[in-house]
Amino acid sequence: MRRVGIVTASDKGFHEKREDRSGEEIRRLIRELGLEVAIWEVVPDEEERIKEVLIRMTDTEGVDLVLTTGGTGLAPRDVTPEATRAVIHREVPGIPEAMRLASLRQTPYGMLSRGVAGLRGKTLIINLPGSPKAVRECLEAVLPVLPHALETMTGEFGDHGESSSKQKS
Ligand code: MTE
Repeated sequence: MRRVGIVTASDKGFHEKREDRSGEEIRRLIRELGLEVAIWEVVPDEEERIKEVLIRMTDTEGVDLVLTTGGTGLAPRDVTPEATRAVIHREVPGIPEAMRLASLRQTPYGMLSRGVAGLRGKTLIINLPGSPKAVRECLEAVLPVLPHALETMTGEFGDHGESSSKQKS
């Protein structure tokens, strides 16, 4: 069973001034893939705090996938992409590219999310924007590919091997 971590980066959420509806939306959507949330944390918009929780979830908890929400915009305290870039070993640019493409079909504001994705060891980390609507629109764009991504990165089959999850065209 794959294990998923959710990180909500939000000053208001951390100080309990706002309910974490985006984290809830992530949990609902990944359940449809048969994935369960193993760990879920709300942290303030501080680069060191975000880095610390990402490293703990990957290296100590050993989750397969970390989905972050929030802190991807242009505000001075939006630092989730910087924290993520600092901890990943290999970037996976196609994931945020696909999310931004899907977002732009919904709203021109989609171009304002600076989210990144990448691998730290055998854990995939993906940044999602902060609102429940944006979470839904972005995650729906990548959900169909996630089972294959998770199989590939854990080395469960070779580069040219057959995947149980990959859709045949
Ligand atoms: N992407 C989608 N699909 N739908 C949205 O409504 N909102 C945008 C953008 N991406 C949005 C979206 C807005 S308004 C902002 S400011 C950025 O995400 C960054 O959001 P964040 O700082 O909450 O992460």
